[in-house]
Amino acid sequence: AKILVLHGPNLNLLGTREPEVYGYATLADIDASLVGLAEAAGQQLATFQSNAEHALIDRVQQAREEGIAWIAINPGGYTHTSVALRDALAAVAIPFVEVHLSNVHAREAFRQHSYFSDIAHGVVAGFGADSYRMALEFILRRLATN
Ligand code: DQA
Repeated sequence: AKILVLHGPNLNLLGTREPEVYGYATLADIDASLVGLAEAAGQQLATFQSNAEHALIDRVQQAREEGIAWIAINPGGYTHTSVALRDALAAVAIPFVEVHLSNVHAREAFRQHSYFSDIAHGVVAGFGADSYRMALEFILRRLATN
């Protein structure tokens, strides 16, 4: 099966962006380890990062054409603002896991509302780069038991 990992705005800066909050792993490090985990489980994994809301929406719409089975998405700042990206995920009806490096619930009040959580299969937040790994492990387990 095909899995898509989406990263929203500013996640291209991982490694140098507020490392005390987001960690020292780069996005390339994270993506490479996720691809390796998926391949070891016999699944295909594609990754995509954009700072642009429309590009993320286009990628979600394209996912349906490609037959993507699961999405793991860290919407970055769009978590707290984007009705349109939420609508795209609802439209394609591909099950997804919401991922955050930081524990958004322990931060500013404006980070405590997500436009995604109520339609996500689950949410992983606060474990740094391991948040992505945990989300992927759940997805791989789901695919294996289907
Ligand atoms: C984030 C949390 C968001 O509040 C923030 O805007 C980000 C990253 C996280 O991974 O912890 O860009 O999604």
